[in-house]
Amino acid sequence: MPRWAESSAAEQGQLTPDQINSWRQQGFALVHNLVPETLLRESAADAENAYPAPGSDAEANFDNFGSGQNFVFPSRSAACNRITLHPNLLGAVAALLDVEVGEIRLTQSDLWPKYGRPPAAHDLDNADQRIHCDYPNHTLTHPPAWEHPEAVEIIIYLSDFETCGGSTAVVPRQGPDDPAYGWPIINTPGVAGLNYVNDKDHAEAYLREQAPDVAAFREHHLYARECLARYRFGSVLLYRHDTWHRGTPVTHGALRLVHNLTFKKAGSEWINVLHPGWSWSMYRRNQFMEKLIAAASVEQRAVLGFPLPGSPYWNEQTLQAVKARYGAHGIDMTPYENAPPAAGT
Ligand SMILES: [Fe+2]
Repeated sequence: MPRWAESSAAEQGQLTPDQINSWRQQGFALVHNLVPETLLRESAADAENAYPAPGSDAEANFDNFGSGQNFVFPSRSAACNRITLHPNLLGAVAALLDVEVGEIRLTQSDLWPKYGRPPAAHDLDNADQRIHCDYPNHTLTHPPAWEHPEAVEIIIYLSDFETCGGSTAVVPRQGPDDPAYGWPIINTPGVAGLNYVNDKDHAEAYLREQAPDVAAFREHHLYARECLARYRFGSVLLYRHDTWHRGTPVTHGALRLVHNLTFKKAGSEWINVLHPGWSWSMYRRNQFMEKLIAAASVEQRAVLGFPLPGSPYWNEQTLQAVKARYGAHGIDMTPYENAPPAAGT
């Protein structure tokens, strides 16, 4: 019988102390009522219109891992973009990292489909993932000590587990001496000289051959302890770069939509943005991103890397120039104009 990780409700758009504690201690929290459901439904409808229907010819040729950079921020879906910068979501991330919203940075936002298909039986098949942590393809380094997290990983489910399966399995951390969470985290494919293999059966067969101790550790401490996230439409799984987890197969013939996001603390340049930079769309979607920047709040802009009021970037010249760039879209520069200059400038 599987073990379950159950979803709990956020309160008035904010994480509860228990949810924050769960993320900090166990490595994850599964919550609902964090982002307004009407907005999530809009985003899901946009995605359903954009992606092939399950069972269609187009679906058969569609990669089952990521959107192929086709639904990344800023996406064609206004709702998806609003979710990416939703104040409740940003507030939750800031609370988990114990920083101000202006001190977090977006590094991933992608809405993608996973189709329920028969197993493809090759190393890179994404249906039944090997258990892993997400840090290797987000950072050039290694997550710092558990007590000093730098990033929040997010899965927003735009489907329902009861109809499409495809739950995320997680291994709850049980205190500082938990053998599953020993240091450093290298007992996983793609790290420390081990090949990257995605498919669970292939990965574990490879490890039994190449690194039997690693395979045994994973069997006894990870797979044996995994819990399945019992998500519903709109559930948000908040986890970390050092949380053991994996995607499990979607029900055959079904479509699971998820919106993946990552936020990091400002200053951790070693954690990469996974997409083209946010400015890249400026010449590709006429005045779309300019309008988005002009309409965003000071905090939302900061999350995209725009300098905060008081940043050393701002002086009389830059204030005028940025106003000249975005003034036609109605940007309000007063928060930047009124902020005292940063120390030393
Ligand atoms: Fe992952």
